[in-house]
Amino acid sequence: MEKIRLDYNNVLKDYIGGDGLTLADIGGLSEKTAAAHAALLEKRKNGGMDWRDLPRNQDAVADDILSYVAETKDKIDAFVVLGIGGSALGPMAVQQAINHPHYNELPKEARGGYPRFYVADNVDPEKLTYLFQVIDIEKSLFNVISKSGSTSETMSQFMIIKQMLEDALGKDAARERIVCTTDSQKGNLIKIAREEGYKTFFVPSGVGGRFSELTPVGLLPAAFCGIDIKKLLEGAAAMDDWCQNPDPCGNPAYMYALLHYIALERGKNVSVMMPYADSLKYIGDWYAQLWAESLGKKLDNGGRVVNVGPTPVRALGVTDQHSQVQLYTEGPFDKLIVFICVDEYKETLEIPKIYGDMPSLGFLGGVTQNRLIQAEQMATEHALVASGKMNMTITLPKVNERTVGQLLYMFEVATAYSGELMNINAFDQPGVEEGKNATYAFFGRPGYEEKKKELDERPEKNKKYIIE
Ligand code: PA5
Repeated sequence: MEKIRLDYNNVLKDYIGGDGLTLADIGGLSEKTAAAHAALLEKRKNGGMDWRDLPRNQDAVADDILSYVAETKDKIDAFVVLGIGGSALGPMAVQQAINHPHYNELPKEARGGYPRFYVADNVDPEKLTYLFQVIDIEKSLFNVISKSGSTSETMSQFMIIKQMLEDALGKDAARERIVCTTDSQKGNLIKIAREEGYKTFFVPSGVGGRFSELTPVGLLPAAFCGIDIKKLLEGAAAMDDWCQNPDPCGNPAYMYALLHYIALERGKNVSVMMPYADSLKYIGDWYAQLWAESLGKKLDNGGRVVNVGPTPVRALGVTDQHSQVQLYTEGPFDKLIVFICVDEYKETLEIPKIYGDMPSLGFLGGVTQNRLIQAEQMATEHALVASGKMNMTITLPKVNERTVGQLLYMFEVATAYSGELMNINAFDQPGVEEGKNATYAFFGRPGYEEKKKELDERPEKNKKYIIE
């Protein structure tokens, strides 16, 4: 299997000078890294990290998904995910990475007979209304994804669509247009799914939202887009093998996390992810949630207030060379920039040999866009190195299911390992829950009276500070 690789030369002092790290800086944390590895092993053994086993325990689930897709896909024109956060970003990232960038605009045969793919991950009334203008709801399948089964955004979409389907098709036919992905025991969605008789896939109870891409949360939408989900799992399994190595020097996830940890300790609290491929742009979105929601915490494991966390920033090469790179090169030394490169793109495009008499254009003639994008990445990397800015590069030999599986799993392990190094719980999200609870309270949901009181007592906004 082609393996992804991590090149961290450019975080080292030997390459970037003053601000760089020495091998002693990295090796000096060996006690801490050994403890972090041991803590992860312990958690895995005690069932505290069920997502680690997904690459190897989803085979039967994948088979079930594939038969459901085979029996359903010809009946529908559109597959619509209703979900948010960990229940939407993974499906988007994988679909964008693997499929044609204009997938929905291709004729059905060119999509292998698979339906068009949409994700409704917001409560924006315009977006959902306009979606109904481009899909035929009677020929669409709606995948309601919510682990908790109570997230307002997702459940509000579900309620709107259920009503529309039942009005249009009647209760029996509407049932065939909804498939749920949720916890097998807890929450409203499983209750509703059982009562209504919806086809349902399960998120294993020990797997949190942002670590759930390799469950039916990600596998079902991917399979409906013709993506080979078994290869995705194989890629993740290969990375899991690689991540058994306790030594960060032989473990890309650990090294990725360790370098970020040291950088963070030295005030580099911005983590920029800059893929040089449009197909990987949404991996940046998925990663931003994983990194931010897992590592941005008020309390450490001992209950002390620490308010820590790296800020993930999404950028796209080469596009953002013409916007953000000026800041990265000449701005403050507060970032660690991660390039994601591709050795072999799916297509090759040659620039014609015209305008040979114009030196500022002639040099492009005969060059492929493939070569140009790689050269531009190299040039940006060089500019960062010359400015003494920390950066590293992850390279995918090709973008396919196996390499994407490796990449996602590597970031998940890196996140968990970072949590250990930072001594925080990477698997909870009290800040997100706080927002969810305040919404419930605002609408007077029973059980949230205390929060409602707190909301009602919040200070009035002073008009003096509103410019109108
Ligand atoms: O990572 C997380 O836990 C969150 O981003 C959740 O995925 C998100 O809030 C959606 O939750 P649920 O799947 O319960 O609707």
